[in-house]
Amino acid sequence: MGKVRYGIIGIGKMGHTHAQKIKKGLDKNATLTAVCDISEERIKWAKQNLQGVKVVEDYKELIAMPDVDAVVVATPHYLHPEIATHALNSGKHTLSEKPAGVYTKALAPLYKAAADHPELTFGIMYNQRTNPLYKRAKDLIETGALGKLKRINWIITDWYRTQAYYDQGGWRGTWAGEGGGVLLNQSPHQLDLFQWLAGMPTKVRGYAKVGVGRKINVENDVTIYTEYANGASGVFITSTHDYPGTNRLEITGDGGKIVIESTLLGAKMIFNKLNKFESKFNAENKKFMPMRPIKITTYEYSTNILQKAIRWGIIGEHMYIFRNFSKAVLGKESLIAPGIEGINGLTLSNAAYLSTWLNKDIILPIDEDLFYTELQKRVEEEALITAGMTKNEH
Ligand SMILES: NC(=O)c1ccc[n+]([C@@H]2O[C@H](COP(=O)([O-])OP(=O)(O)OC[C@H]3O[C@@H](n4cnc5c(N)ncnc54)[C@H](O)[C@@H]3O)[C@@H](O)[C@H]2O)c1
Repeated sequence: MGKVRYGIIGIGKMGHTHAQKIKKGLDKNATLTAVCDISEERIKWAKQNLQGVKVVEDYKELIAMPDVDAVVVATPHYLHPEIATHALNSGKHTLSEKPAGVYTKALAPLYKAAADHPELTFGIMYNQRTNPLYKRAKDLIETGALGKLKRINWIITDWYRTQAYYDQGGWRGTWAGEGGGVLLNQSPHQLDLFQWLAGMPTKVRGYAKVGVGRKINVENDVTIYTEYANGASGVFITSTHDYPGTNRLEITGDGGKIVIESTLLGAKMIFNKLNKFESKFNAENKKFMPMRPIKITTYEYSTNILQKAIRWGIIGEHMYIFRNFSKAVLGKESLIAPGIEGINGLTLSNAAYLSTWLNKDIILPIDEDLFYTELQKRVEEEALITAGMTKNEH
């Protein structure tokens, strides 16, 4: 195979950007063969703007094209598992947008298709895994420099969205169309990184508040508490109504602490490395409250506004995943974000909802059938609210 010939399904806000960037040649191993959308307006746009690219309305038609090697799924989330499953079962390499789906139960056929086709590359668009700061944090954890995990805390409240965003209609911000709010739309990136860095917890307690300061049916303010098999704990806080928001990740281990804070102007990582593991110091120390118990060496790493502009604007972080995905298809690299890992972040959000709805701790793995039943209740209630009917319980 020379270049990987892509077909993109869903050319809305995200899919059309992917299409344009591939057309511009930002991934030298990629070429765009076809796009697909069900919207007349998007089809018109594609015909006017993507010269030489085939445009179809039926995703199965795109997947069946012999000159499409790899399929990108960029439709609303509910459709991701269905389309990705069909693509893999049709022998196509598949790159799904995040999240993997809306509920983990829907992923079973997809993961079976992936297991049945190990010759195919199956990835997920977790572009923030390519951020050099998070990659460094991952290295520090995997090489053992941070020591045994004690705590992971992430405040990610800079996903500011107005009422106008939710009022734009369509599938966003509804149980029926999107399956949730901030946990499914904005924060899947950080939920994925949370588990990529700390592993999966054993227990989740969630508080997902619906419609804080916004007239919406879904959550836009969430606090999640997590517990891990080794006794570590975590807190994940996210919202779309705080302004100014915060994006601060802290990971504490036996060997020190990593802090990564991002702002509009760039991002900074500080690693305070203990010269002796805290557990070792504690075992040897005789003082009750030592002032400077362990010597610290501080390492700093930052990315500035220009680097941010290149990553996000000129190239676009998603293209780093495309470049990696194309090379993986060509057998030159392993995947940064394998598709089968998509279930982890989704499990965290499903568990946080279930915990909120049942008002209790959720021990993983979650009860997928129960989650699905509870989700359907929200979808049905929403339909009644939309129809102007009120609930009358007996
Ligand atoms: N990785 C990221 O950073 C990132 C950023 C934005 C969006 N996304 C993800 O991309 C997906 C799409 O988001 P968006 O903002 O582009 O939404 P969008 O509504 O702008 O685009 C979705 C498109 O899919 C089309 N579509 C719907 N059903 C279809 C079908 N059966 N066949 C073909 N096309 C169909 C719609 O007509 C629409 O044009 C979401 O899952 C979202 O989470 C990811």
